[in-house]
Amino acid sequence: MSGLTLISFSDMFMAKEIRASNSMFSFRHICYILFTLSFCSVIIFHSWSHCYYFSPYHLRVTEEKQNQTIINLLSYPFAWNHLIFSSKPPSKLLKIALFVKKWPQGSHAGGLERHAMTLHIALAKRGHELHIFTTSPGSSIIPKSELGNLYFHFSKPTPGGYLDQALVWEQFQEQNKTGSPFDIVHTESVGLRYTRSRNVTKLAVSWHGIAYETIHSDIIQELLRSPQESKANALAERVTKVVEEVKFFPNYAHHVATSDHAGDILKRVYMIPEERVHIILNGVDEDVFRPDISIGKEFKKRHGIPDSKSLVIGLAGRLVKDKGHPLMLEALKQIMVENSTFQESSIIMVAGDGPWAARYRGLGENVVVLGPLEQSELASFYNAIDLFVNPTLRAQGLDHTLIEAMLSGKPVMATRLASIVGSVIVGGEMGYTFSPTVNALKKAVYESWVDGKEVLHNKGQVARQRGLKLFTATKMVAAYERLFLCISSANNDDHFCQY
Ligand SMILES: *[C@@H]1O[C@H](CO)[C@@H](O)[C@H](O)[C@H]1NC(C)=O
Ligand SMILES: *[C@@H]1O[C@H](CO)[C@@H](O)[C@H](O)[C@H]1NC(C)=O
Ligand SMILES: *[C@@H]1O[C@H](CO)[C@@H](O)[C@H](O)[C@H]1NC(C)=O
Ligand SMILES: *[C@@H]1O[C@H](CO)[C@@H](O)[C@H](O)[C@H]1NC(C)=O
Repeated sequence: MSGLTLISFSDMFMAKEIRASNSMFSFRHICYILFTLSFCSVIIFHSWSHCYYFSPYHLRVTEEKQNQTIINLLSYPFAWNHLIFSSKPPSKLLKIALFVKKWPQGSHAGGLERHAMTLHIALAKRGHELHIFTTSPGSSIIPKSELGNLYFHFSKPTPGGYLDQALVWEQFQEQNKTGSPFDIVHTESVGLRYTRSRNVTKLAVSWHGIAYETIHSDIIQELLRSPQESKANALAERVTKVVEEVKFFPNYAHHVATSDHAGDILKRVYMIPEERVHIILNGVDEDVFRPDISIGKEFKKRHGIPDSKSLVIGLAGRLVKDKGHPLMLEALKQIMVENSTFQESSIIMVAGDGPWAARYRGLGENVVVLGPLEQSELASFYNAIDLFVNPTLRAQGLDHTLIEAMLSGKPVMATRLASIVGSVIVGGEMGYTFSPTVNALKKAVYESWVDGKEVLHNKGQVARQRGLKLFTATKMVAAYERLFLCISSANNDDHFCQY
């Protein structure tokens, strides 16, 4: 009703009919109230049983409804994470094949493997039948399925550590003949090579880094190369690699880009038709990574971090060159030399292992190197810090640590790589970005320190809201489930491809 009072005379073109169902007196009474409340709109007494009023308010509502029903999901140009899918059990259960080079074990898993595990265990929990084709683990710990509808099919890796294509294809064919055939095939990157994928129409490949993105990393590495190091050939070879990818990528029926940037490159540079490229951003478990002041406090206490510190910076992941640790180490070294106040008032906590662990330890007392952390410990770690910094130089896929920190309600600072500024830190309200030079990184660190705890806390709130909107495992799983339903029933009338 209140919408009616805002109506101006000029844009009235929607008629709504009110029928009198009760007594004549009450009907006239309603029309009278409408008229007085909304003196700008037109109320027409048609007869004693009909009354019309004209209102653009209703027009707007109708338009919105129309806009919502006409999306063809396969050509939806944005990340599917923006859409809202029902959390109800799926109306159709699928038999899904997954090809992934390695199934993760412990805390050492890389982004691709963690994505594979989070997504497919969740799909199995939603009732789908999952068959995982992967290499047999090197160690004696063989992953066992705790779910009755999730099956592992192991095979011996090739000398290069890849899936033996002939072997897995045989395993797949056998499973395809057992019970019902597969509804959908999913491959994490080139787990299933294009030589096998090209005849499979109900297939999706998820890319966690394509050669074109990596050119930026190659350029950065070359610029940061010290005169003593020999020149790498990576830069020249990479362009050849892009051309190879442009040639073989069309052999996959559907493509999932894990960042907005990769989606654009697949469509524009790799020239894959847009209805075969779908953007689904990575998600992490929102029940594990969430704000919890008490576990953060406990973590700080356990590691001897006093509450008096004005800035606690966190770093996590593999402590290697690619991840930008030479840059971070140098920036911190210089800041500590030039600014004693910073040294006294801040703490840097480093989770993870790699060659740079010892170098960080060498920086002094206000750098705490924690070693690799299990997932629940990592959740406490994020809650203990004021700011998460990821100086990565590797422009591949969508970084999990940044989204874990955001879901934990922390502001984030990262390198200006296209996937990060395009999908994750899209503005200064949730954190900081810097060009990959020591000076730019120093400037960003100083800026965050001067901003102080309150500003950082506010940015953390914005980061959390963005995380909840886009980067939860629930969002990612719902989007993939819908994509698989859509591809597997492309010729049917199930409407899975409409939103
Ligand atoms: C509905 O879509 C049309 C065309 O895409 C657009 O012009 C209009 O603003 C949209 N309306 C609403 C309410 O979003
Ligand atoms: C799986 O089996 C079905 C039914 O026999 C067949 O149509 C389909 O082509 C098979 N899939 C592959 C990838 O071989
Ligand atoms: C795919 O199809 C092509 C031509 O239709 C055929 O030559 C090739 O052997 C098939 N490959 C596989 C792996 O089935
Ligand atoms: C340290 O940096 C802050 C902020 O830029 C500045 O206000 C302060 O004077 C510096 N202190 C020293 C000792 O250089």
